[in-house]
Amino acid sequence: MSSSTIDRLRLDGRVAVVTGGAGAIGRVYGRALAEAGAAVVLADLDGERAEQAAEALASDGLRALGVRVDITDRTSAADLAAKTTAAFGGIDILVNNAALMAEIPQVDILDLPTEWFDRVMRVNVLGAVICAGAVKASMTERGGGRIINQASAGAFLGGGIYSVSKLALVNITVGLARSLGPLGINVNAIAPGLVDNEPGLRSLPADHPARAALAATIPGKKSAPAEDLLGTLLLLASPAGEWINGQVISVDGGWVTRL
Ligand SMILES: NC(=O)c1ccc[n+]([C@@H]2O[C@H](COP(=O)([O-])OP(=O)(O)OC[C@H]3O[C@@H](n4cnc5c(N)ncnc54)[C@H](O)[C@@H]3O)[C@@H](O)[C@H]2O)c1
Repeated sequence: MSSSTIDRLRLDGRVAVVTGGAGAIGRVYGRALAEAGAAVVLADLDGERAEQAAEALASDGLRALGVRVDITDRTSAADLAAKTTAAFGGIDILVNNAALMAEIPQVDILDLPTEWFDRVMRVNVLGAVICAGAVKASMTERGGGRIINQASAGAFLGGGIYSVSKLALVNITVGLARSLGPLGINVNAIAPGLVDNEPGLRSLPADHPARAALAATIPGKKSAPAEDLLGTLLLLASPAGEWINGQVISVDGGWVTRL
């Protein structure tokens, strides 16, 4: 592969916002985007942890800022966009990664309290839409951008409210790709399988009988660290992925397959 092909995976001069940036995967995503050359804003409901995560990047010479955001609040999302623009000049990449997952009560959807139904849909679905809306003006002004929605293999496997919310996010990915495409904004989604981190383990403990049953249905690697998602993230965020739009890319060892 020529070095110009590799160069097209770099993000020098770009500005990326990662929601849920203080979380397990968000921190890994933020570091990868920064190491690829982007200035990165780690945005999270837990502002203190977002700032600490950004400081860890900055202490390694990377350009990073931690910002508190509640993605379900339009004013807060607008404030995130304004702070990002003030710090780094605008926004080129949004990773809609914040979500509720491990905290959701593991009960049959028929028994899920209405407030949890509303809460999950509000954070996992509306939150991503609000953030996309908040970055649209800046991306448009800069001639385009990338929005990457963090879906899940669960979207295609059915079950609880989490799966419902992630399939809604896939649908929104396609809709936004169509509406924002003419502005030069590509919208895609990553659908990870089971990630080897604390929230993943909390959602499905290693010794849970369902894990062995699930693993039997996955032809490849059963679970993986967040680092295994980074190739896809960088492809979707970088010039190398310019022609990819409105897609959901499963990174799950072949757990979910589609013809
Ligand atoms: N861990 C897994 O196995 C796995 C698998 C597939 C997909 N995912 C998805 O990856 C993403 C990150 O998951 P994770 O494992 O890092 O979990 P995590 O809980 O560590 O990260 C989620 C982050 O989102 C933040 N957040 C929650 N509500 C928010 C709000 N209203 N505004 C702003 N931030 C908010 C939380 O504070 C947290 O830091 C999620 O979208 C999750 O659904 C995770």
